[in-house]
Amino acid sequence: MNYRFCGNSGLQLPLISLGLWHNFGEVDNFSIATDVILHAFEQGITHFDLANNYGPPPGSAEINFGKIFQTHLKNHRDELIISSKAGHLMWEGPYGDGGSRKYLMASIDQSLKRTGLAYFDIFYSHRYDPQTPLEETIQALIDMVKQGKTLYVGLSKYPVDKALEAYRMMQAQHVRCLIFQDRYNLLNREPEADVIPMNKQFEVGFIAFSPLAQGLLTDKYLNGIPENSRAAKPHGFLKKEDVSPEIIHKIRRLNVLAEQRGQTLAEMSLVWLLHNEAVTSVIVGASSVKQLQNNIGSVKNIGFTEAELGEIMRINNDE
Ligand SMILES: NC(=O)c1ccc[n+]([C@@H]2O[C@H](COP(=O)([O-])OP(=O)(O)OC[C@H]3O[C@@H](n4cnc5c(N)ncnc54)[C@H](OP(=O)(O)O)[C@@H]3O)[C@@H](O)[C@H]2O)c1
Repeated sequence: MNYRFCGNSGLQLPLISLGLWHNFGEVDNFSIATDVILHAFEQGITHFDLANNYGPPPGSAEINFGKIFQTHLKNHRDELIISSKAGHLMWEGPYGDGGSRKYLMASIDQSLKRTGLAYFDIFYSHRYDPQTPLEETIQALIDMVKQGKTLYVGLSKYPVDKALEAYRMMQAQHVRCLIFQDRYNLLNREPEADVIPMNKQFEVGFIAFSPLAQGLLTDKYLNGIPENSRAAKPHGFLKKEDVSPEIIHKIRRLNVLAEQRGQTLAEMSLVWLLHNEAVTSVIVGASSVKQLQNNIGSVKNIGFTEAELGEIMRINNDE
């Protein structure tokens, strides 16, 4: 595994990180979840990404990670970067969603309890909440660092103008924002417009989530929706209608390009993200050790010719 410095911080992250959004909840197979996490760590994946609401049910991914950590990884705490987040709906009533200080402070305490950790390495505001003053949310993040509940803080999916304001507020209190998390993959290149340039300018790390577009950027949906795939599961975030004829058409064209490069579509999709040095890491999901192995193995043949980049752009633009 290779590592990249996260923005201008001293913290390095592995090129491939593991996310626990799907496949690690109470509804999932605990033995497979354990194998995936332990295999990841053996292969040098030091970064595991959680959120309060991951499951289902919400909270159960943190509980399961906590059990695996306490049984197998406790002695390696100083070799691990564990993140969690709060911002989306977690519990009923006015204090279990959004960006209020009340919600964020209660949530980090709950997440620490569920995982059994003494602190997180990174804690994120999971989304911008237009109903809460930005200063309130950001002050809560700053105070979490000052209270020793997290070492670093990050933002996820924030509009650029709000992120910039937040970076300035944090800087003024000597708590820099470490990292920005956003959806970025071959089917969604939105962050290229302003999110990635902004983070580069402010020397904040950038980490891409759903780098395989939840599995669409693999060969699994080329001939229909397989049983047991995320799109086939009732609780999966990827819906059957997301596997549309238009998307399949694009994926087929990308698959041809990947074959010409001697790679699988999943491999090409991950290295395409990583060929941009401004991308600190990509957070993959995996429902098996085999998938994770494929994804870790992808980090080679990282260069792209101008012709290949041009072809990707034409596919993106449906030309
Ligand atoms: N900040 C946010 O708001 C936010 C939002 C979303 C995600 N995230 C983070 O990003 C992480 C990753 O998101 P994601 O799970 O959508 O990532 P992803 O890597 O785009 O998709 C993962 C899914 O793709 C399939 N897959 C992975 N590797 C494969 C391979 N080599 N061959 C075939 N299929 C493969 C599996 O689906 P099957 O289950 O079908 O096998 C797997 O569950 C999350 O766990 C979370 O930590 C953050």
